[in-house]
Amino acid sequence: MFAGIACAMPLTLPACAQVPANANPGLRDLARARGLTFGTAVRSNLLTTDAAYAALIAREADLLVPEWEGKWEALQPERDRFDFEPLRTVLRFASSNNQRVRGHALLWHEAMPAWLAPALREGPAQAQQILETHITTVLRETRESIRDWDVVNEVIADPPGSDNPSPTEGDLRPTPWLRALGPNYIERALRLARQADPTLRLTFNDYGVESDTPWAAAKRTRLLRVVRGLLERGCPLDAVGIQGHLQMREPFRAEPFVAFLRTLREMGLATLITELDVREPDILAPSLEARDAAVAEYAIAFLTAAVEGGARTILTWGLSDRDSWLVQEPGVARRDGQFHRGHPYDSELRAKAFRARLAQFFTR
Ligand code: G3I
Repeated sequence: MFAGIACAMPLTLPACAQVPANANPGLRDLARARGLTFGTAVRSNLLTTDAAYAALIAREADLLVPEWEGKWEALQPERDRFDFEPLRTVLRFASSNNQRVRGHALLWHEAMPAWLAPALREGPAQAQQILETHITTVLRETRESIRDWDVVNEVIADPPGSDNPSPTEGDLRPTPWLRALGPNYIERALRLARQADPTLRLTFNDYGVESDTPWAAAKRTRLLRVVRGLLERGCPLDAVGIQGHLQMREPFRAEPFVAFLRTLREMGLATLITELDVREPDILAPSLEARDAAVAEYAIAFLTAAVEGGARTILTWGLSDRDSWLVQEPGVARRDGQFHRGHPYDSELRAKAFRARLAQFFTR
């Protein structure tokens, strides 16, 4: 059993959303009572092997996103051979816990199986056929269970000053997809998805637009220019996902971020926070308690602005420090051997200040 936080006293929730006094509302219940959706990324291999992990996910999340099971390397490991089993594991878990699943990601330049990049170099006609086969096959398989997909992921080029600035000028990241199909590959993917499933919510997902820095401001400008261009060409698009991989070494200020989300909303687009987690600064606070309080403070300031800007769906990228790319990915892991404490739960699945502040945030 994990040492989660149980709400000892019944919460005073709006009458319409009263949770039975003896229940211990999870974040999913608290968020729903406020008209928000809370969820998280999950790993199918942990859902089936780690009971404490599975119980935590079941209790806290209304909406799941597969961390890797919805990507090309998992779904189409060989050309024209699809493997939906890992994704079905997530779908079965969600179904048995009354949870929804959002899809991630129909087109990305990472998590590409070995066969894909060389195949995309065969020419635009073949590249278009490969993209069409993937999108129509995946959407046919998931039509009954997934109603929102990140159709394109991380297509905006990183500006100078950001962690990994794009080597080229222009708004679009240089990827095998851009080289194979040209700048309108994004439109092609969105139109293929709409054609395959007319009522699917089509989401454009990206990162690095959150902080109050020159490069985040530049990336916001680039994203708005690309999205506005898509809409002006009549391209189907319903939402923009803001990943929310926050970095505490970067300042955050609500005003520019709220204005950015409101501009997207004025374009007729929904916005959602899709991959929230927090990277701590290089110099850590002197105690775990101080570190956790600082992480929670930074995250809640961001979420307050996100909701003020119109976001109504919030997903963290995992619930615990243990199963996080922030620990496993050398490029972002801490060099001092400590774990980033950027999630609501620690590596022993114990609730931290972030979880308590989220509960308060949802019951404001
Ligand atoms: O593919 C294997 C699978 O066969 C195996 O059964 C499974 C269980 O061990 O592992 C799978 O491997 C790794 C997978 O994570 C699960 O841990 C992949 O090798 C590894 O590449 C994959 O990394 C993920 C990465 O995206 C690439 O897909 C990270 O977990 C995931 O956190 C990261 O998430 C991305 C978002 O999709 C987009 N935004 C940035 C974010 C962080 O990079």
